[in-house]
Amino acid sequence: MASRKALSLLLVVVAGLCLICGNVQALGVASDPCTTDNDCGQGLYCFSCDGASPVCAIDSATPVSSFSQNYSLPFNKYAWVTTHNAYAIVGETSILGVTIVSQKNQEDSITSQLNKGVRGLMLDIYELNGDIWLCHSVYRQCYDFTAFRPLNTTLIEIEAFLTANPTEVITIFFEDYVNTTNALTTALTATGLSKYMFPLAKMPTDGSDWPTVSSMITSNERLLVFTSNRNKQAGEGIAYQWNYVLENQYGTVALTCDRRGESALLTDKTKTLFLQNYFPTNPNRTTACLDNSDNLSKALNVCSSATGNRWANFLAVDYYQRSTSKGVFKAVDTLNGQLQCGCEDIRACEGSTGPGICSVVTAPVATPRTPPPPSPPTALPPGTPSSAGALSSSFSALVVCLAMLLVAHSTH
Ligand SMILES: *[C@@H]1O[C@H](CO)[C@@H](O)[C@H](O)[C@H]1NC(C)=O
Ligand SMILES: *[C@@H]1O[C@H](CO)[C@@H](O)[C@H](O)[C@H]1NC(C)=O
Ligand SMILES: *[C@@H]1O[C@H](CO)[C@@H](O)[C@H](O)[C@H]1NC(C)=O
Ligand SMILES: *[C@@H]1O[C@H](CO)[C@@H](O)[C@H](O)[C@H]1NC(C)=O
Ligand SMILES: *[C@@H]1O[C@H](CO)[C@@H](O)[C@H](O)[C@H]1NC(C)=O
Repeated sequence: MASRKALSLLLVVVAGLCLICGNVQALGVASDPCTTDNDCGQGLYCFSCDGASPVCAIDSATPVSSFSQNYSLPFNKYAWVTTHNAYAIVGETSILGVTIVSQKNQEDSITSQLNKGVRGLMLDIYELNGDIWLCHSVYRQCYDFTAFRPLNTTLIEIEAFLTANPTEVITIFFEDYVNTTNALTTALTATGLSKYMFPLAKMPTDGSDWPTVSSMITSNERLLVFTSNRNKQAGEGIAYQWNYVLENQYGTVALTCDRRGESALLTDKTKTLFLQNYFPTNPNRTTACLDNSDNLSKALNVCSSATGNRWANFLAVDYYQRSTSKGVFKAVDTLNGQLQCGCEDIRACEGSTGPGICSVVTAPVATPRTPPPPSPPTALPPGTPSSAGALSSSFSALVVCLAMLLVAHSTH
């Protein structure tokens, strides 16, 4: 009799646990089908690539610092999600009151990009009306109808993020058509960014490792700025990109990895940072879904072969949030894994005791989303599932289950 009682109790406990587990698993992990964001776990959103069935897609970066490799390694051992033409945002209107006719490459604000884990920003700058503007050009010339916004407004957003997040490091790549001496320096100073700039003197040019990310955080030198204008390195102390960074050709999503004209050979070992471009000449929201998916992962291996086993530190894409599931965030997890422990995912570096010693990456378990900020109560349409409803239905099922067991028990 006593053992029977114990068995019943065990059944109740098991049934209860199953219900609770079932409830957690109902949250989707990457690639699971969904109807709304609430069907997906933390860091995911419900996204449909232009008519395809919606799936839970990864929406923000894995914080590198949450794994064993944290920020104790040299800067060149990390990879960062990078937005190509980060400033060319769909739906923005210009303060000049004219329609922006240029191509768009991203869909959310710079602040939102940073909040989601983007850490590399590619920005094109031109002079317009006596100021510096983020702009696309027509034959190297910026016009009112191709200009997005004054550079200052974006620099202020970056400054606010660095100030609010004292352990984050950002890299800016300026495609720089600003010829006025010191104009860029003035903008960096006026917006409070100069104080965060990583000094030129600490940037290695002989193939040696960069300082560690943790030392960059400690010294509060958390902004790397590169310019495509050679004169500004000697003139203004802003690093000339091609002295430090290698790049493959942009404007192609073919599975090839050729050198970009301005870059040194991709096998040049004196330059310790590598930016991998993976976007077509004409940005396209539909094709971005596919480009930022399986082929993006394949492209990492293609470039690794072409560069003599180098893995990119910056992975630059258009419409970075778009993919059919894991997208650029998964690709950057792969790059961090390769850079830090020779494994295919940063998670496999946990507990790694040497290159290529990879721990088994278990399937991710969906963690509940952080509740959204409180909003005025709204009536749910009848039958709308909610997490509170799911919990209470688990609870009532548990009660029913318990009652049935008790009934079954008493009849014996
Ligand atoms: C970072 O990793 C190193 C080496 O594994 C470890 O010694 C250090 O305590 C870690 N730091 C943090 C902040 O987790
Ligand atoms: C800026 O300088 C470059 C190189 O000297 C020159 O080709 C270009 O025309 C100049 N641009 C403007 C807007 O003056
Ligand atoms: C904006 O940038 C210009 C340089 O183009 C600078 O002179 C000015 O002080 C900046 N304004 C603000 C509000 O930061
Ligand atoms: C992936 O790339 C290959 C080779 O360039 C191409 O044939 C294929 O269509 C691409 N796949 C997708 C889904 O875009
Ligand atoms: C984007 O690509 C799709 C599929 O190839 C094509 O049908 C569409 O016309 C393209 N859109 C633009 C704006 O180029």
